Amino acid sequence: MRRKLAAGNWKMNGTGAALQELSELAIAHPKPTSDILICPPATLIHRATQVVADTAIQIGGQDCHTDPKGAHTGDISAEMLKDAGARYVIVGHSERRQDHNEQNETVRAKARIAMDNGLTTIVCLGESLTEREAANTLDIIGGQLSGSVPDAATGHDLVIAYEPIWAIGTGHVPSLSQIGEVHDFIRARLERRFGPGVGRSVRIVYGGSVNPGNAGDIFDVSNVDGALVGGASLKSADFSAIITALEAAS
Ligand code: PGA
Repeated sequence: MRRKLAAGNWKMNGTGAALQELSELAIAHPKPTSDILICPPATLIHRATQVVADTAIQIGGQDCHTDPKGAHTGDISAEMLKDAGARYVIVGHSERRQDHNEQNETVRAKARIAMDNGLTTIVCLGESLTEREAANTLDIIGGQLSGSVPDAATGHDLVIAYEPIWAIGTGHVPSLSQIGEVHDFIRARLERRFGPGVGRSVRIVYGGSVNPGNAGDIFDVSNVDGALVGGASLKSADFSAIITALEAAS
């Protein structure tokens, strides 16, 4: 059985005042049956881990460098995230692929070093609107999956996030059959590459305009093991409603 995952990605949002949202979330979900993760900006990671200490909420980073350390001004290593109390890290988010021109090879190296440091690694994949309209979605996802996921991945340290770029922050969500098609495809590819045991234990989460209103339907789609949530993770009431929908899904 895969344990479901509700992951919030705060992106470049939040100062110390936002930590209150974490306290509220912890109070609302004292004994969750899913994993609950918040990835705040790096400046808040350490304080966030203190706020959620002794609760079921976990904290993660939004990116890490490919190298263990060195002359990379402004960057953060996987070891530093771990040291600050992070348990997870997101790599290959489409905003990083676009803003920082990250290619699959870089994402794969980041995932590898994150796993080597004991971080559960959320590798993001997703097609653009042009690629979807050209009926290239599965080719793109297949290429990103083989290029961005390290061979050393195990079922426990890897999460795949399917996030169509055109759905992120736009309010446009793919149809449930489109989501199901991609998640089933990713599952089949994982099983083929890593074998059924590992392939079936990797969680595949959906991301892109998930909100309390659409979450329940999305969580009923086959091979959707949770969500990676941007905007709706910033307010504890919204994210809490998404967690409740996840835990109610079959
Ligand atoms: P969104 O972002 O929920 O605001 O669309 C999702 C993401 O980028 O992870």
